[in-house]
Amino acid sequence: MHVREFFCLWYNCFMAIKGKKYIVGNWKMNPQTKDEAKSIARSLKKIAATSKKVEVIVCPPHVYLQTVAGALGDAPVALGVQNLSEEEKGSFTGETSALMARDFGVKYAIIGHSERRKMGETSALVAKKVAQALTQKITPIICIGEAERDTHGAFLAELKQQFTESLATVSKEQLKSIIVAYEPVWAIGKSEKEAMQPHQIHEMTIFIRKIAGEKYGQENAATFPILYGGSVGGSTGPVILNEGNVNGLLIGRQSLTEEFGTIVTYASTI
Ligand code: PGA
Repeated sequence: MHVREFFCLWYNCFMAIKGKKYIVGNWKMNPQTKDEAKSIARSLKKIAATSKKVEVIVCPPHVYLQTVAGALGDAPVALGVQNLSEEEKGSFTGETSALMARDFGVKYAIIGHSERRKMGETSALVAKKVAQALTQKITPIICIGEAERDTHGAFLAELKQQFTESLATVSKEQLKSIIVAYEPVWAIGKSEKEAMQPHQIHEMTIFIRKIAGEKYGQENAATFPILYGGSVGGSTGPVILNEGNVNGLLIGRQSLTEEFGTIVTYASTI
């Protein structure tokens, strides 16, 4: 390994441990009423008021954006959406454009979540959505993750292909304006015990930095945060933040519960 590569690797690990943490709540198609959405947002407001060095991001369904924004008031919580259109504007029934989201005050967009890929979203489409987000200065949280693991390493090739194709529209200069979320599909929606082990997550962050280095040059491979997602809860979240070499977490079901607050509070202490 060259001295420069070694330094980059060391720097990545250092930043993952010491740098700013991103804690993202992906509410998916929950909760079922706007009153519940308001109540979750109010609890989040209290927790966020005391958090430091943490970028707390909440991604509710579009219909709750107004309610959530109102309940959060001036709390240091950023709004995100769970999807965006790949088109700029026009006759696209049911879609929301990056420009509309930006105009509302949305700062982040989850793009290419595995649940959307399952509905037919390809990496090529993800790349177009990423381009729309970047044009409107919305930070895309680009999700990648293998469907399953095999013993021959085919999942690594799958991940590399997803990374390369989903970031096809991202230039070297734009790397600092994106976030990559590593979410192995097999670890999503399971019990907390089945979340990926921190040492495995650590290995995967090194792999992602390596493929980023091949595409953009090793010196640029550390310019974007890597988050982990998949069955994270109040007890696994802190361990993954400590030992997983990640810059944050993308949390699904537990972002609707008090465990999200536990994780945000913990992230402020490291
Ligand atoms: P989960 O979802 O935390 O409920 O597993 C994570 C995600 O899908 O982003």
